[in-house]
Amino acid sequence: SKARHHKWDVEYVYWKPDCLEGVVIGINGQFPGPTIWAKAGDTVVVELKNKLTTEGVVIHWHGIRQLGTPWADGTAAISQCAINPGQTFEYRFKVDKPGTYFYHGHYGMQRSAGLYGSLIVDVADGNKEPFKYDGEFNFLLSDWWHQSISAQEVGLSSIPFRWIVDIDQWERAIQLLDRSKVHEGMNTCGKMASPQCRPEVLQVLPNKTYRLRIASSTALASLNLAIGGHKMVVVEADGNYVQPFTVIDMDIYSGESYSVLFTTDQNPSSNYWISIGVRGRLPNTQPAIAILNYRPNTPSKIPSSAPPVTPAWNDYAHSKSFSYKIFALNGSPKPPSVSNRRVSLLNTQTKNANALSGNVSEIHPWHLHGHDFGFWALRFVADNPGVWAFHCHIEPHLHMGMGVIFTEGVERVGNIPKDALSCGVDATIVTNGTRHP
Ligand code: C2O
Ligand code: CU
Repeated sequence: SKARHHKWDVEYVYWKPDCLEGVVIGINGQFPGPTIWAKAGDTVVVELKNKLTTEGVVIHWHGIRQLGTPWADGTAAISQCAINPGQTFEYRFKVDKPGTYFYHGHYGMQRSAGLYGSLIVDVADGNKEPFKYDGEFNFLLSDWWHQSISAQEVGLSSIPFRWIVDIDQWERAIQLLDRSKVHEGMNTCGKMASPQCRPEVLQVLPNKTYRLRIASSTALASLNLAIGGHKMVVVEADGNYVQPFTVIDMDIYSGESYSVLFTTDQNPSSNYWISIGVRGRLPNTQPAIAILNYRPNTPSKIPSSAPPVTPAWNDYAHSKSFSYKIFALNGSPKPPSVSNRRVSLLNTQTKNANALSGNVSEIHPWHLHGHDFGFWALRFVADNPGVWAFHCHIEPHLHMGMGVIFTEGVERVGNIPKDALSCGVDATIVTNGTRHP
C-alpha cells in the first residue's frame, strides 16, 4: 500500500456544464474535480487550499469509513471547522475497502455549486474482484442549477419559503460529468458541442464485458439509467459486493454508487444511446444522454434506435422492485443480530410539504457517515469513535435541517489535528474530555 498525494486549489471557475456559462466551484481549475485513484489499504493525502474568497470549504469523502480518523470526514461544524479562505488543510485517511466512491463539498450547499469528483478504490494488489471484465468506465451523475447556491439558500430560509424549483429561472440539465476516463481513446466527436457539455462517449469493442461505475452526487434528482439494447448486471452497491442480478434500467439516488457489468453483444454496426431520466419528481428537462460507441464506428454515427425510455417518474412499484433485488453477496459478513440502542427517526412530511402525490412522501436518501449499513433497518455497529452526520442526501433538505449527528465514543478519539479543532463546540467537548449529555 502507498500514500497517494494530491494538492488541490479550490476556487470558483467559469464553466458551461449544460452549454450555458455560469460559475462552478472547481478544483485545480477543473470541473468536476480530479478523480482520485487508490488501492485498498492506501492512504490518501489531499492538501487542500481554499481559494474561494469569501466562503469556508470542507470536502467529505463519501462512503469512506474514516476508521480512526473521524476528523478527516470533512463535515463543516461536525467533524472539523470549515477551512477559511486562504488557508490550507491536510486530509489524510486510509481507504480500506475497494469500491466506487466520490467526494463533495459539505459546507452550506457547495455540492450544488459543483464541488465534487470521483474516488475509486481498486482491490489491493494480489486480490481479485469477484467478477471479470475487459475494460471499465466511470460516470459521476449530477444535476445542475442555474440559480446560485446563495440565492437557493436564501429562498429555503425565507418567509414565505421558496423551494428551489419554485424559482423563476429554474432550469436543470442532468449531465454526465466525469471526464476522467479509465479507458483510453475517449476523444469525443468535436462537432457535437463545447467540450464542457457534449454527451459522454463510451468507446467499446464488440463481444467484451465492461464495468460501468456509477455514482450520484445530485443535489436533488433521483435518477434512472438505461443502456439501449443492453442488459446490466449489478455487482457492487456503495462499496459492497452484491449478489449479481440483471436489469434493463436501474435507479440511482443521491449519494449512492453502483458497478454494473454489460456485454457488447448487440449489432456492432450500430451505436447505442444511454439515457438517464429523473425519478420521483416530475422532470422539467429532457433525459440526459450518452453514447455507447461500438468501435470502429465513429462516435458521431447516430444510433439506429431511439434512446431507451426510462420508467415514469412516479412508477414507485418499479423503484421498489429494483431495491428489493439488492442483497449482499453470499458469504458477506452478517448484519448484527441484536442492537444495544434503538433510535427512532420519523421520516415523513406533512401533506402539503412536497408530497409528490396523495399520501406519497418524497424520496429521502438517508446517508450515514463513518459507517456502512448495507442492509435495511439501518442497524450499524458503533465501531468508529467520532462525530458522524446522518442526513437526507438531498442537499436542500439537509440545508433545511433534515439530519442528525451521532457522537460516538468521542472520548476515545485521540490525536486530533489542531487544525480540525480551531473553533466550535466539538472542540470544547473533545478537549475537555466531557461527553455530550
Ligand atoms: Cu455525501 Cu453528508 O454526504
Ligand atoms: Cu430529503
